[in-house]
Amino acid sequence: MTRRRTSELGQKQGRASAFWGLNLALALALAGVPGVTALDNGLALTPTMGWLHWERFTCNVDCVEDPQNCISEQLFMQMAELMVSEGWKDAGYEYVCIDDCWLADERDENGRLVADPKRFPNGIHHLANFVHSKGLKLGIYQDVGNYTCAGYPGSFGYYDIDAKTFADWGVDLLKFDGCYANDFESLVEGYKYMSFALNQTGRSILYSCEWPLYSRPFQEPNYTEIRQYCNHWRNYDDIFDSWSSVKNILSWTASKQENLVPAAGPGGWNDPDMLVIGNFGLSWDQQVTQMALWAIMAAPLFMSNDLRHISPQSKALLQNKDVIAINQDPLGQQGYRLRKEDDFEVWERPLSDLAWAVAVLNHKELGGPRNYALSTNVLGKGLGCAPACNITQILPVKKELGLYEWLSQFKVRVNPTGTVLLKLQPFK
Ligand SMILES: *[C@@H]1O[C@H](CO)[C@@H](O)[C@H](O)[C@H]1NC(C)=O
Ligand SMILES: *[C@@H]1O[C@H](CO)[C@@H](O)[C@H](O)[C@H]1NC(C)=O
Ligand SMILES: *[C@@H]1O[C@H](CO)[C@@H](O)[C@H](O)[C@H]1NC(C)=O
Repeated sequence: MTRRRTSELGQKQGRASAFWGLNLALALALAGVPGVTALDNGLALTPTMGWLHWERFTCNVDCVEDPQNCISEQLFMQMAELMVSEGWKDAGYEYVCIDDCWLADERDENGRLVADPKRFPNGIHHLANFVHSKGLKLGIYQDVGNYTCAGYPGSFGYYDIDAKTFADWGVDLLKFDGCYANDFESLVEGYKYMSFALNQTGRSILYSCEWPLYSRPFQEPNYTEIRQYCNHWRNYDDIFDSWSSVKNILSWTASKQENLVPAAGPGGWNDPDMLVIGNFGLSWDQQVTQMALWAIMAAPLFMSNDLRHISPQSKALLQNKDVIAINQDPLGQQGYRLRKEDDFEVWERPLSDLAWAVAVLNHKELGGPRNYALSTNVLGKGLGCAPACNITQILPVKKELGLYEWLSQFKVRVNPTGTVLLKLQPFK
């Protein structure tokens, strides 16, 4: 069986050499060290890691019927405590982030934002102090337009006041949404202005934008420009707790990778949205796929799950040190899809010390695990294993695959909708 697949692959490779030439050109084009200036606030030198309430807790404001799950200071305090006691902080997750629906319906008499007094009785400053006392950081949410997406007061017309309010409260990150901005001009100017307003506060506040997502209907985003103002930026639709959502984000990202990949680097990252691992919608193999590919994409890792109720298996995956090390690799180059054939996808990402991460995803939603054979000479721009490399399987379980010479073949066995993540290290 294996033998037959390998020889089939050999024949295909002969026929497909023109295709490979193109792919190699693409890989080289994507390889450039980001020559693009990042926002100069010293933050997000590696992708941001933390927890964000939106996907799991959405806009649940009913603390009477559902006190354990409503958006309230208690929810964030519980998450902050668990982040420390359950090893999340040690694994690198640092920012506890509030999304939409934290606000009262009106600003105060001085035009300052107010948290909902019932759900945040002690206010955001108090919550920030609590989060800081745990050695963690606090993230908050606002919107560039007249309202937040859920209809609370937006920041338009109040950028300076809101930036100052967040700084006074001790906020460490702002997620700035893009709803209710009527025109392209106000959207772009608003995102730039808030970046400036945050800087003017003198407090280091990480700036998470949705600028390209909302400006794309008007024109193709200019990532050189966006990178000068934002620490990361959402490009595509909100994630849902489903395989189709994860799959759409991956295929959209691959389709735009020639623009997206060169934009990423220390200080500024493409944000494919939250990790939904540990919830209801993804099978085990699909959770492995999300973790592996978010590492390949150098994505910010914001979990949106319930840290009070999470399976040991999902927790181990989210805290896996080897995958996190790939995500956080100091070289800071985003990976890309190298190949798509026979319902498999191969992605690769250059790492520091001439190492490479390689992910093989099996898209076939029929049958059982399938073998995929790879030639070492196609990985790492053809040189990942020249003259030889050590290959370690990182996911789904760690396993040493051994030493491979250039021009040798190896195979991986991948479950339907699952991923095998490998690390290639040059043999010295
Ligand atoms: C504000 O911007 C300047 C110049 O780009 C930079 O040197 C400084 O560190 C920034 N300050 C903050 C608080 O981000
Ligand atoms: C907010 O509303 C005002 C008044 O209707 C309008 O002039 C302005 O363009 C709106 N802002 C945005 C960003 O759409
Ligand atoms: C993109 O933005 C950069 C920096 O502001 C600018 O120099 C460049 O001309 C812009 N590119 C396009 C195609 O508009």
